Amino acid sequence: MNATLLKRLFGALQKGQGRDISVVCERIIEDQRRRGHNKLATELERLAPSGEHVGGEGSRSPGPENRALAPLPLSRREVAALVQVIPHDQLRHYMILPPSVESRFMRIEKEYAARTRLANFGLRARTRVLLHGPPGCGKSLGAERLAWATGLPMHKVRFDSLISSYFGETAGNLRRVFDDAERRPCALFLDECDTIARSRLERNDVGEAPRVVNMLLQLLEDFRAEGIVIAATNVDEALDPAIFRRFDEVLEVPRPGRGEIARLLKTTVSAVEVGPTVSWNHLAELLEGCSCSEVVQVAQSAAKRAVMGNRAVVEQGDFEASIPELHRVA
Ligand SMILES: Nc1ncnc2c1ncn2[C@@H]1O[C@H](COP(=O)(O)OP(=O)(O)OP(=O)(O)O)[C@@H](O)[C@H]1O
Ligand SMILES: [Mg+2]
Repeated sequence: MNATLLKRLFGALQKGQGRDISVVCERIIEDQRRRGHNKLATELERLAPSGEHVGGEGSRSPGPENRALAPLPLSRREVAALVQVIPHDQLRHYMILPPSVESRFMRIEKEYAARTRLANFGLRARTRVLLHGPPGCGKSLGAERLAWATGLPMHKVRFDSLISSYFGETAGNLRRVFDDAERRPCALFLDECDTIARSRLERNDVGEAPRVVNMLLQLLEDFRAEGIVIAATNVDEALDPAIFRRFDEVLEVPRPGRGEIARLLKTTVSAVEVGPTVSWNHLAELLEGCSCSEVVQVAQSAAKRAVMGNRAVVEQGDFEASIPELHRVA
């Protein structure tokens, strides 16, 4: 990081404030001192913000000009970021889906792009999406793709910091995460949302869990932020039944059919040459019922066999020998 950039960063952060920012600033100052940049370290010290609690009563909400530098929402006691920010350019977005599922993903993306036009007619774009389906078939990848296609950074909720051991704080933390999404447009991602959205009926919790579910229902219902909210689960039957109608789109991401399996295999080995006797149809038949991630695993393993055997071409036998080695995940 060059000196000018560091100074600008510190100046901008000063407007946001927050204990976490102070810690980051201290680290950078220490680092600069270690490198022998004492003059710069002293200047930075002068510019560094004081350690005020982020999101605490009376904290300033960041203006649009420094939204990107706004502090992450923190849980009340543990000073831990409640969301992990995945910048737009680090999002994966290439995926292979059956045409009917692909078109539903595209409909969400197109509606988001046309949200203002829809609003002119009193209509709302689908901005609350629940992805469900078997493991390893693209729920998390699908969430990244939606964030990527809508041009939003992904804010992935960190349930480890969200769930507080202090009674009453988990629901409060959840609210802080949604409040933050109101201030900073993002694709808010609740991966494995069953962690907090399990049915209130199924369990005998007398603790905070039912309150957390109620809070989630309320926050989803009131969600009017500029961005989108995506939840994912592979145990949809365990979710609270009231959750489903809070989403504008409940989208199943299914196991790949034979056509998708063949495409996944071809795409995964596209960097190596494939022998003329390879039968994609036969391989797809052998792999029917597997998850996408297993298919990718087989293709990668086949390509590695060829490369490690100093062969320039991957053959049918490489694929077939890789299938029994699958450590099944779904
Ligand atoms: N539809 C897809 N197209 C291309 N690759 C896919 C697809 N689905 C899964 N994969 C591959 O499998 C990996 C795992 O997928 P992902 O993490 O999205 O699964 P998931 O549905 O979220 O599973 P889990 O329920 O275990 O969280 C991806 O990183 C990608 O390599
Ligand atoms: Mg996942």
